[in-house]
Amino acid sequence: MDSFELNKIIGAILGTLLFVMGVGFLAEAIYHPIEGRGPGYALPEPAETAAADADAAPAAPVTPLPVLLASADASAGESAARKCLSCHNVVKDGTNKQGPALWGIVGRLEGAHEGFAYSDALKAHNAAGDVWSYENLDHFLASPKTYAPGTKMAFAGVKDPVERANILAYLQTLADAPVPFPAPEAAPAPAADAAAPAADAAAPAAEAPKT
Ligand code: HEC
Repeated sequence: MDSFELNKIIGAILGTLLFVMGVGFLAEAIYHPIEGRGPGYALPEPAETAAADADAAPAAPVTPLPVLLASADASAGESAARKCLSCHNVVKDGTNKQGPALWGIVGRLEGAHEGFAYSDALKAHNAAGDVWSYENLDHFLASPKTYAPGTKMAFAGVKDPVERANILAYLQTLADAPVPFPAPEAAPAPAADAAAPAADAAAPAAEAPKT
């Protein structure tokens, strides 16, 4: 093999390398890989779900009853209370039906309408001296059998707190002297906060007699 032959072989190899590199440059010029867009599909991200849960929790706060009552609608409550009328009389001096007459119900002793044969559950509330406050009526109407297990009131309850507040506002009107709603300001104060100053106030009082 002479040097000319060798040059041809080396030339062919270099030429091939040049061609391959050229194809590589050309391919890169044509295709631009898409980068920096993250994974092609959404992977579950626990941190974000936790944040979403945390957001969801305060989304359904329990509005205190006095606040609901302050904006309650008695006429909407009257419509909502139609389902009560099959069992309850709501007129003044109304007679007992399947359930006791409801005139003057707010502020009345529980299980106290004369001539009505109450269940043992409501008789027990009566014996305990429980009164139909707006709070107690709210609990009873939310779920009668939770408030008074064994009650004769065969009624599932009103689940919507706003509808209950409207019904309570309507029940308020069923009286010669309607009972005022509880003040909204009193309710939102958390019990823990209220207890702390009380404990502080007690301390100086205990020291006072010593001096
Ligand atoms: C299926 C019949 C029925 C329906 C519907 C019904 N009640 Fe009653 N209700 C009763 C009966 C029966 C009692 C007596 C419960 C007992 O003795 O345990 C009662 C008791 C009550 C009491 C206690 C009265 C008292 O004197 O202590 C209230 C308040 C009351 N119902 C309100 C309502 C309201 C408001 C509605 C509608 C949202 C309603 N009820 C729907 C049958 C019914």
